Amino acid sequence: MDNKIIIFDTTLRDGEQVPGCQLNTIEKIEVARQLEKLGVDVIEAGFPISSPGDFTSVVEISKAVQNPIICGLTRAIKKDIEVAADALKYAKRKRIHTGIGTSEIHIKYKLKSNPDDILQRAIDSVKYARKFVDDVEFYAEDAGRADNEFLAKVVEAVIRAGATVVNIPDTTGYCLPNEYGEKIAFLMNNVSNIDKAILSTHCHNDLGMATANTISGILNGARQVEVTINGIGERAGNTSLEEVVMAIKSHKSLDFTTNIDTQQIMKTSKLVSTLMRMPVQPNKAIVGRNAFAHSSGIHQDGVLKHRVNYEIIDPAEVGVKESSIVLTARSGRAALKHRLQLLGYSFETPELDEIYERFLDLADKKKDITEEDLEVLVGREKLKGKRPIELVSLQVVCGKSTIPTATVAVSFNGDVFTETASGNGPIDASFTAVKNLVKRRVRLEEFLIQAITRGSDDLGKVHVQVEHKGNIFYGFSAHTDIVTASVEAFLDAIGKIS
Ligand code: KIV
Ligand code: ZN
Repeated sequence: MDNKIIIFDTTLRDGEQVPGCQLNTIEKIEVARQLEKLGVDVIEAGFPISSPGDFTSVVEISKAVQNPIICGLTRAIKKDIEVAADALKYAKRKRIHTGIGTSEIHIKYKLKSNPDDILQRAIDSVKYARKFVDDVEFYAEDAGRADNEFLAKVVEAVIRAGATVVNIPDTTGYCLPNEYGEKIAFLMNNVSNIDKAILSTHCHNDLGMATANTISGILNGARQVEVTINGIGERAGNTSLEEVVMAIKSHKSLDFTTNIDTQQIMKTSKLVSTLMRMPVQPNKAIVGRNAFAHSSGIHQDGVLKHRVNYEIIDPAEVGVKESSIVLTARSGRAALKHRLQLLGYSFETPELDEIYERFLDLADKKKDITEEDLEVLVGREKLKGKRPIELVSLQVVCGKSTIPTATVAVSFNGDVFTETASGNGPIDASFTAVKNLVKRRVRLEEFLIQAITRGSDDLGKVHVQVEHKGNIFYGFSAHTDIVTASVEAFLDAIGKIS
């Protein structure tokens, strides 16, 4: 049997269903591109019929991503399938993921139906989806609590109807690892045409067993795993991609492989956490802040003698650049250079001197400088002088009982212009001044401020989207002063209007 495990990422569908985690289309494209870099085989990009936003995201991700299969979710309903097929029209490789509840509880109380009717609807939905695409995945919702005999009947029938992959979700996170593994083994042994399709795991984490159940699933014959970055998802979440991939990689004796470039794991985790405003718990396996931090003296001593004393994974394998050098305002260029090298950046004088100046500026304002801060410092260095419109200076007056007023000076290809304006707040006043300066009809569509790390002294990250003549332009900046970051992001977007 093939030992390659197919990684099906559902961060943008099951993960995005979490209240407060919704992303706009631009953010979803950013995540999808990173998932492609990470090496996932399938991206479940959304549930196209659920909202116009989800539909657009599936369309845009299909255009933006080349290698992974793009998958759209549907219910076992014709209209859902038609809409998904339409949303997937630009995808190079496309899959429709359709399905229906298969447990007695779902059949009786949710679908108010009976097993025969469910079986027929399952077959019809797969056949209908096959009219649009060659790759159809069927999900037997609540398979975790379904009767195995009935489940086997459904799986056999949908494979005969043309399903290429059959998903066995533990929708409610109820199964124990041995139970879930036995379910997969039962299907492998009792479905006559099982060799014509791939069985997929889809485990929720209500009892904290999603990863264990997923591993048990592959040990018993499943060859696709449905996972999310950081384990985000409905209620207690889904199986986390990084845990399954690193469990497989760490246990060589299992002899499973994946296409994942594990060095991209941390970067992907941070991107998802930042954009979804969903912090990762510090002790989260693989990607938590403390996953490779050693605090007790005994452990530190052990790690310093030999890393493997207390670490089963080399942090570099997941893109964590282990570093014992803490950067502060008292650090010199050599320490900065070393930390930058650990991040993969190599700078020499005079570029290094310029970064160092800004580093000192930041270090004066912050207690300690993190890797995220360094990424931003380097990013600004790379962009310097490349933007057609640069912020030269910004002066803002605001506070209680004061009309917020901003004076903004910008340089357009070297010439400096200044404008003053007032508004209902410092950012509004600054943006009005910028709009007066650039003399272009631009409308602010989206505006998002995030702290990059934790405290009030951290860098603020600003994403903006502006509309000009029906087109959308995206801008970004980061700064400890959020008004400055906002104006820079606004100018970044405006500078992209040709
Ligand atoms: O948990 C679940 O059953 C699902 C299906 C829609 C695949 O997310
Ligand atoms: Zn799910």
